[in-house]
Amino acid sequence: MVRRLAALGLFLAGCAREPAYPLHGEAMYNRYCASCHGLTGKGDGPAAALSPPPTDLTKADLSLPELMKVIDGRRTVRAHGTAAMPVWGEVFEQTTPDPGREHRQALRDVQAVAEYVQALKARARQEGT
Ligand code: HEC
Repeated sequence: MVRRLAALGLFLAGCAREPAYPLHGEAMYNRYCASCHGLTGKGDGPAAALSPPPTDLTKADLSLPELMKVIDGRRTVRAHGTAAMPVWGEVFEQTTPDPGREHRQALRDVQAVAEYVQALKARARQEGT
């Protein structure tokens, strides 16, 4: 019994070392965001020569709910097509393979990406860049 508990403890410790963000979020970020915001979030992707330039996400001071709102874009002024940043909530809805669950899936995608953006920010702070 004790041995089993110890094994469980090791297992849980192993889980805790997993990255603090969903890998799904990293994949989505690299696919949908890095072209403008750069792989590290610093706003230096290959398509960054825009006006206005993409935000340096490692410097953006937004909470997770704020980030999600900005990225989703459907409930902000951006939804009216005034900004250079795509309305990701809509894009993700259109790319989900699960008909009938588009809204929920898009929300989950937005959250995964937002969590990854926070991880990029933490990494930049750790590296002092
Ligand atoms: C076509 C280029 C482009 C792509 C692709 C893009 N962005 Fe942006 N993003 C911008 C630009 C330009 C701005 C600054 C102007 C604005 O807010 O519209 C911006 C602003 C932002 C902000 C706002 C920061 C603030 O302080 O308000 C966040 C957060 C953000 N982007 C996250 C993302 C995420 C996450 C993705 C991928 C899902 C993404 N962006 C993809 C161009 C892009």
